[in-house]
Amino acid sequence: MQITEIRPDELNPKEFIWEKVQEIADAVGDGTAVNALSGGVDSSTVTMLGHKALGPRLKTYFVNNGIMREGEPERVVSLFRSLGVHVELVDAQDEFFKALAGILDPEEKREAITQTFYKTVFGRLVKKSRARFLLQGTIYTDVEETVAGVKRQHNVLAQLGIDTKKRYGYTLLEPLIQLRKPAVRMVAKALGLPKEVWNRPPFPGPALVARVVGPVTREKIALVRKAQAIVEEELAGVKAFQCLAILHEDKVTGVRAGKREFGHQIEVRCWDSKDATTATPTRLPWSVLERLADRITSEVPGVVSVTYHVAKKPPSTIEAV
Ligand code: XMP
Repeated sequence: MQITEIRPDELNPKEFIWEKVQEIADAVGDGTAVNALSGGVDSSTVTMLGHKALGPRLKTYFVNNGIMREGEPERVVSLFRSLGVHVELVDAQDEFFKALAGILDPEEKREAITQTFYKTVFGRLVKKSRARFLLQGTIYTDVEETVAGVKRQHNVLAQLGIDTKKRYGYTLLEPLIQLRKPAVRMVAKALGLPKEVWNRPPFPGPALVARVVGPVTREKIALVRKAQAIVEEELAGVKAFQCLAILHEDKVTGVRAGKREFGHQIEVRCWDSKDATTATPTRLPWSVLERLADRITSEVPGVVSVTYHVAKKPPSTIEAV
């Protein structure tokens, strides 16, 4: 890799912010830039850097792709509004579900999300805004995993030899590309973002699609969204790197109220990890697991089986897709 990492012990967040704000302002000149905010640490940090550099000449969009967690679009838009950043909510749910229809292969799902996001939806927004720059929160680990061929991160383009100017009509600016997550969190904190943002557990770009094995439908996303909300509620007090619910493709036989029910399986994963490159399942108390199983089988329609994942990464990965 050509990019040099800036490690947390080498990082001076205030200086870094000053430098990046200058770089963004210089690159964009008197033009305009756009960026997509998802509410994650990376895109939130980039939004604040861009806002500092460009003020209203940065147009920030929140693309509702239909695959986010419960209440996420509204929560993120109102948080940034309270920080003085105007965010436009774009409803692109139909386009994403159409692009995902019938796809089984994990990498193809990721590719469908990438294309829908960068070409269909963002291509249109950039054209409408007449911006020539796209600010994006790609971080060092995204590039590393994609280049190593572990998992294609949805936001890595340039390092795969994709010329965004030629293909999509805009130039990418990636101010966080030298940082891993812990360093990004330091910058986010120094930018004055609230703890709920800088301390937020990671959530993948392909969102709940990374948690549906097999074909993705609105109904399946709705199921895994409910299960994810329960996992987050029940495990809120657990010190873990990331906790997630996965919906399996295969159904299994269950029994409810004395009747056979051929139903869904949810797998719960909860990880201890430093930087996601390796990870170990959290040793959750049995009572916590039992409560999770009880709530998921009674609150998520059609779920008759709940399992807990115990294999390490590697050879597992954190997400299932
Ligand atoms: P894996 O599943 O590769 O995940 O062990 C490592 C970490 O990265 C997150 N992840 C993603 N993040 N875009 C992202 O921004 C993606 O395409 C993506 N895929 C996985 C995952 O949640 C975990 O924290």
